[in-house]
Amino acid sequence: MNEKKIILTARDLSKTFSNGSVQQHVLKNLNLSIYKGDFTVIMGNSGSGKSTLLYALSGMDRPSMGTITYYTDADEGKETDISAFSNDRLAVFRRDHVGFVFQQNYLNDSMSALDNVMVCGLLKNSDRKALAQKAKDLLHHVEIDEADYRKFPAQLSGGQQQRVAVVRGVINSPEVLYADEPTGALNSQNTENVLDILSDLNNEGQSIVMVTHTIKAAERGNRIIYLADGVISDEVELGPYAGDYKDEHNPKLEEARERHAKLKNFLQDMGW
Ligand SMILES: Nc1ncnc2c1ncn2[C@@H]1O[C@H](COP(=O)(O)OP(=O)(O)O)[C@@H](O)[C@H]1O
Ligand SMILES: [Mg+2]
Repeated sequence: MNEKKIILTARDLSKTFSNGSVQQHVLKNLNLSIYKGDFTVIMGNSGSGKSTLLYALSGMDRPSMGTITYYTDADEGKETDISAFSNDRLAVFRRDHVGFVFQQNYLNDSMSALDNVMVCGLLKNSDRKALAQKAKDLLHHVEIDEADYRKFPAQLSGGQQQRVAVVRGVINSPEVLYADEPTGALNSQNTENVLDILSDLNNEGQSIVMVTHTIKAAERGNRIIYLADGVISDEVELGPYAGDYKDEHNPKLEEARERHAKLKNFLQDMGW
């Protein structure tokens, strides 16, 4: 039995796109709960509906049918079904409860790294001074040097930009951080870097839902969900990340190897 607290439950979720007279059923009566403190990973073939599911769960887009009920901490567990919210209410909901990281960092080119984070924080927070301190602490945490706070995105490396984007995603202390292939555009060193940051955040209690198509990224999650053709095929629980399974100096090497093998077997079973 899972004794973790439920953050949200999606019931009978469907999403249909109409293309002229052709209807494409991308999500099909999908049922899913997301748990507090989990690093949930969504995998599946390209076109299986991963991004569509992430957008529906996060309130970026509305489902065609079904409900998405959040049990938000800030509202003392009050139930909030966002599936029929207007655009305005969805925007407020997203601001107050969720954060995002995408494959592209979508930073504002005409703002400094710090301002990119601040502007998002100011939507929710009026204490500018406290917010600036929090933004700087987080940027420091992701190893952005103080000398780079005032730089524009174009003056930062791709890896630095994505780290700033992660900070922006968590500046409002979201109940869930949603990430859609957050390392998809990064080289291997920057990928490690960003994944380490996500693991750190999760260790500190941040609930994360991440879509990925790489085993390396998926391994960071404790719960792996496999999506096929708009429905959940199966899922596997790996337990908390135990470090690099190839690192001889990893004190949890045995555990890391077991997790890796379990994930590989699961994906093999899924025909991945
Ligand atoms: N806004 C949209 N309009 C029409 N079709 C869409 C839209 N978004 C996604 N789709 C279609 O839905 C299917 C699933 O897309 P997506 O959720 O992006 O898959 P994944 O992220 O798993 O690769 C694809 O066939 C895609 O073309
Ligand atoms: Mg996608």
